[in-house]
Amino acid sequence: MSAPDTTTPTPIDPTEGDVVDVDVIDESVQLLEDAADSDHQVDTAVILDFGSQYSQLITRRVREIGVFGELIAHDSPWEEVEKLNPKAVILSGGPASVYEEGAPQLPDWVIEKNLPTLGICYGMQLLAQAFGGTVEPADHREYGHAELQVEDSGEGLALFGGLPGSISVWMSHGDHIQQLPEGFSMLAWSTNSPIAAMGNGRVVGLQFHPEVQHTEYGTDIIRNFLVNVAGCSTNWSAESFIDAAIKDIREKVGDGRVLLGLSGGVDSSVAAALIHQAIGDQLTPVFVNNGLLRQGEADAVREAFTNHFKTNLVYVDASDRFLEKLKGVTDPEEKRKVIGETFIRVFEAEAEKAGPFQFLAQGTLYPDVIESATSSSNSKTAVKIKTHHNVGGLPEDMDFELLEPFRLLFKDEVRAVGRVLGVPEEIVERQPFPGPGLAVRLLGEINDEDLDLLRKADAIVREEIEAAGENENVWQYFAVLLPVNSTGVMGDYRTYARVVAVRAIASQDAMTADWAQLPYEVLGRISSRIVNEVNGINRVVYDITSKPPATIEWE
Ligand code: XMP
Repeated sequence: MSAPDTTTPTPIDPTEGDVVDVDVIDESVQLLEDAADSDHQVDTAVILDFGSQYSQLITRRVREIGVFGELIAHDSPWEEVEKLNPKAVILSGGPASVYEEGAPQLPDWVIEKNLPTLGICYGMQLLAQAFGGTVEPADHREYGHAELQVEDSGEGLALFGGLPGSISVWMSHGDHIQQLPEGFSMLAWSTNSPIAAMGNGRVVGLQFHPEVQHTEYGTDIIRNFLVNVAGCSTNWSAESFIDAAIKDIREKVGDGRVLLGLSGGVDSSVAAALIHQAIGDQLTPVFVNNGLLRQGEADAVREAFTNHFKTNLVYVDASDRFLEKLKGVTDPEEKRKVIGETFIRVFEAEAEKAGPFQFLAQGTLYPDVIESATSSSNSKTAVKIKTHHNVGGLPEDMDFELLEPFRLLFKDEVRAVGRVLGVPEEIVERQPFPGPGLAVRLLGEINDEDLDLLRKADAIVREEIEAAGENENVWQYFAVLLPVNSTGVMGDYRTYARVVAVRAIASQDAMTADWAQLPYEVLGRISSRIVNEVNGINRVVYDITSKPPATIEWE
């Protein structure tokens, strides 16, 4: 018998655990009705997911433009879609070839309902096929930048009017349109795509990806489609969401009480601000200081939620209890387990003291919700709710109804909502921070002295990267304290002190990451400040490993 393969992740069984049947479309309909009741008539575009890695990005772009984008499975039936009363349809790209057996098909309703439709890449090829054109494998697979030559007259005006005649776009396709369908015009071409854009006034196809940053004027092109071709108004905004969400929270909660685990991260902080605005003191945020927070963090959160928002914040300084439990623990997974369990006990005790509560609020986001809701027809539409997402794990027997005001929002929309609500910028802009905190950045056993060294070094890393504006380009940036001493020389003295590693990575979603190519001057300032200002550290190294093969955190 062979040894078990510990490198293969175990698939999650969707029938196990906290699986709840949720209809995301119905939730959106409710939100849009609430928005309309609050004087924000919001138009909707449905994005049909044909499996492109960029489907969520299309949806985000549509929302940024001010139209409510809803990402749905490509084979969603019209009876579901029509509830959203869409003014426009967007077909995403996808990995298949339209002529392949088993390739995902265009639902009949797209043509029958005659809604303004934009097909991107595979979506364009589906449209070409459905309207009687032909799609063939291209002689050259086109991947990367291409120069789009625009025909900005006739049908092309609505889409490209006002934009330059030559635009650098991002291509990623093996097939292309060989023959236009009847009634369509060629709107743009590139060297390898004689028909890089096509349209008939109501239906538009783009061979390139307007949703990715690499495409110049990509958002303008999508906006032109939504506004000029589909006639959408652009009323979706943080303000319209806030008005609708407040109405919804008030209706749902009535005179009940809501408990919220405040971690200091963006999602739980903005959720606390929003729910507080809706129901005031019926909300009790509980903030547990586990002693593993970064410099200044506990104070910033307390300041925001007691002085600024004047919530009934329950602040528990459980640092000693956590550090006591972590004594002698060096294994990273064991650290996580100890921290998770201790958190549960502390949180449970505080909930008990301040309770009873009927609702538990969480900052669950749209990407968690749609991950399974948009996957293909034969998978269930059940959504796996990460019940323990933000509060780090809660006892099974706590009997709460969940309140998740951001289930329909992307992270950047949550940030925008936070800004409108007046959540301090340092919280709204906060980089992702792991639940176990500094415990996984202090390698080996944890103690107060080392935590102090790490906090000081980490604060310098953050200050210098932010001062240089490099935080705009990186996803996470922090210090890691290594369990190693190295020799140094300071003045006339030999030193034998600790080593700090600086980690800065660029990423879209933390699934993969590149080490950030920070300017040498910034790295130089970080290094000299740490060794000069933090007594006990005499060497700074920069981590130049991407993920994979390394992970972002060192433990
Ligand atoms: P890795 O290290 O796996 O990290 O590349 C990916 C992302 O997840 C964060 N991370 C965690 N977040 N609890 C969390 O809440 C954890 O135990 C944990 N471990 C890693 C990490 O900061 C990065 O954003």
